[in-house]
Amino acid sequence: MRIAVVGRGNVGGGLADLWERAGHQVTRIGRDGGDVSAAEVVLVAVPGGALAAALDQLQGIAGKTVIDATNRVGVAPPPGFFSNAEFVKSRTHGPTAKAFNTNFAALYGRLGEARATPSNLWCGDEEAREVVEQVNRDACYEPVYTGPLGNAAAQEGLIGTVFAIAQGGMGPFVYRMAPPDQL
Ligand SMILES: NC(=O)c1ccc[n+]([C@@H]2O[C@H](COP(=O)([O-])OP(=O)(O)OC[C@H]3O[C@@H](n4cnc5c(N)ncnc54)[C@H](OP(=O)(O)O)[C@@H]3O)[C@@H](O)[C@H]2O)c1
Repeated sequence: MRIAVVGRGNVGGGLADLWERAGHQVTRIGRDGGDVSAAEVVLVAVPGGALAAALDQLQGIAGKTVIDATNRVGVAPPPGFFSNAEFVKSRTHGPTAKAFNTNFAALYGRLGEARATPSNLWCGDEEAREVVEQVNRDACYEPVYTGPLGNAAAQEGLIGTVFAIAQGGMGPFVYRMAPPDQL
């Protein structure tokens, strides 16, 4: 599959590595933007408050299947929207999904060590299902559907619970809280 990854950090860079290993053709896009018109799916993995700026820098995004992996740590969704994912859809008008926002990128290299295939929550449009579930499995996750895109706000809100579990020492590694602008 031709995948464009927007954001070259922990999530974008990490998933790009996993997908390349699975045989996909990945284009990595940074803050200078780029043309995603050849992509079959676009992953957006930039800081939650940088979403609009990142989308502004993309050519060929209209109508694309987009997976929004952002979290909103310390930032509200864009005005008029309940979630970042719904904001993405308002800009692209294509199939949209929320996924990869509830798993720590620091564990991408250890997914194969898990005693069972790790689950990865996703919600979004039915038209995105086949692609979203494929790229989940190719990153070694079992996709778990949480409903239509209207559930994205709830899925974005889950990150506080994920942090609490990790900080309580109950997750797979002890997580040290980073400043919100670094999450
Ligand atoms: N880290 C995790 O475990 C994790 C897990 C799930 C979800 N998330 C969410 O996923 C998103 C990315 O997290 P991350 O840990 O990968 O962050 P990160 O390591 O800081 O990477 C963010 C990337 O986004 C780039 N960027 C910033 N503004 C941009 C713009 N306007 N256009 C294009 N690229 C831009 C940055 O470029 P520069 O390098 O030039 O600054 C950087 O490469 C965040 O919303 C985060 O909350 C993180």
